[in-house]
Amino acid sequence: MEDLRIGVIGLGLRANLAVAAHRPGHGSVVAAVADTDEAVRARVPERFEGARAVADHRTLLDDPGIEAVIVATPDGTHEAIARAALSAGKPTYLEKPLGITVEQCNAILRAGYESGTWLYVGHNMRHMGVVRLMRDLIARGDIGEPKTVWVRHFVSYGGDYYFKDWHADRRRTTGLLLQKAAHAIDVVH
Ligand SMILES: NC(=O)c1ccc[n+]([C@@H]2O[C@H](COP(=O)([O-])OP(=O)(O)OC[C@H]3O[C@@H](n4cnc5c(N)ncnc54)[C@H](O)[C@@H]3O)[C@@H](O)[C@H]2O)c1
Repeated sequence: MEDLRIGVIGLGLRANLAVAAHRPGHGSVVAAVADTDEAVRARVPERFEGARAVADHRTLLDDPGIEAVIVATPDGTHEAIARAALSAGKPTYLEKPLGITVEQCNAILRAGYESGTWLYVGHNMRHMGVVRLMRDLIARGDIGEPKTVWVRHFVSYGGDYYFKDWHADRRRTTGLLLQKAAHAIDVVH
């Protein structure tokens, strides 16, 4: 079986998704990366042998050799990039959130529907080990009937890191309720 050739759009903090998907000889390989940051592109050959690095996601999407894409760019870019990927017929994994407004989300879903292309959105936390363990503890009755749920979400590197880039700009994220509480709400579920 030939490896599925994946194109990655946006190789920042979420690069671990691309690293996990890069399994030469075992089903999938990162064959191209599109990132607007020149420094990120410069490191592509050492991270993914043989992968092509381009600045514009449209160049990647035009490549018939790319069979599927991972989109992990800042939230406010998702609509344009996801719509382009779906319209190009590339099965698309979009790192959450889908979009930053309801209109954007609808536009992406419409593009997926009209093109008949698979769209996957990574937004849940319920399958994480720690969350499943909490669920098991409750199901076993170890703590009795829960009366309330309180989720505290720590950003590993602290607020300095988190609020000094695009995350701090509501025009690009809508705000913390979407950016972070999306995870918390799934944990509560
Ligand atoms: N970091 C996390 O723990 C985390 C967790 C869950 C979801 N997410 C989501 O993943 C996505 C990416 O987050 P991140 O933390 O990796 O961000 P990041 O800022 O670290 O990385 C984004 C990358 O995309 C590139 N980029 C920006 N605009 C681009 C464009 N138009 N075309 C191509 N490349 C572009 C940037 O140069 C950068 O390398 C966001 O939607 C975020 O909400 C991140």
